[in-house]
Amino acid sequence: MINKAIILAGGTGSRLRPLTDVVCKQLLPVYDKPMLHYPLGTLMLLGIRDILIISTPKDLPSIQENLGDGSELGVSIQYKVQDTPQGLPEAFILGEEFINGQPICLILGDNILYWGQLNLVWNECLSLSKGAYVVGAHTREPEQFGVIERDKNNNVISIEEKPSIPKSNIAAIGLYFYDDQVVQHAKSLSPSTRGELEITDLNNIYLKNKELRAKILSRGTTWLDAGTITSLMDASTFFKIIEDRQGLKICCIEEVAYNMGYISKKQLLKLALNFEGSSYGRYLEQRVTDTLNR
Ligand code: G1P
Repeated sequence: MINKAIILAGGTGSRLRPLTDVVCKQLLPVYDKPMLHYPLGTLMLLGIRDILIISTPKDLPSIQENLGDGSELGVSIQYKVQDTPQGLPEAFILGEEFINGQPICLILGDNILYWGQLNLVWNECLSLSKGAYVVGAHTREPEQFGVIERDKNNNVISIEEKPSIPKSNIAAIGLYFYDDQVVQHAKSLSPSTRGELEITDLNNIYLKNKELRAKILSRGTTWLDAGTITSLMDASTFFKIIEDRQGLKICCIEEVAYNMGYISKKQLLKLALNFEGSSYGRYLEQRVTDTLNR
């Protein structure tokens, strides 16, 4: 059973300058909360409570200041610096000690998902003991991503990094599940022409061993990209519309912690006090008192 995950929150966020000159990309607001809360909330919803966050020497301190050791949320968060961006698989090399020979989930720090319903299919990924799962979603711009070609049983036929002629419109979204071989495989990779270790090369090792499967997000689930100013705005608008309409927040990590039973009522109220004077704080308080939304 996978109960550990790495959030890779690296990169320079150059496409979001000058915003990222002052705030690290993963802490930029997506509507009413920092971007990083979305992948963290996703992991917490998946039942994963042992987390390593990897980021740049410049950005790690602010992330650490925001999330601390996770104990307030009933999870454990550790941190590791990635000195220079050397590609996604470096996360497994840097995280070797944290991984400790166990299967692991990797999610990118800018991975924003809205789950209509977190259904049982995820148990397949979480209970993986051999091989790997790559999570994909339909996109209009497959050539910008790792592109997954699969058969009707979701076995991967090919996975290619940013191909000029994509074999499908399914993009690897930046959420992966790997068995205990991942560190060894990551160490065997060589940098690509862009000078980085490529997650697609890692996935191709699993594919060659006939051990790579795909999990494709259903139509009720939305994957948002916030890599440019426009997509950042779009993501904010998306969550504003849903949250305003429903009166419920999405990936509100304190609420997730409470709903998942990671923290008590008392702890949620304590967290609400930290946000006193804000609508966010009032919302957290209402989670305890409001019986209408149950
Ligand atoms: C990376 C991966 C790519 C994946 C994408 C998801 O791309 O290499 O396969 O589809 O993340 O965001 P990069 O952001 O490094 O260009």
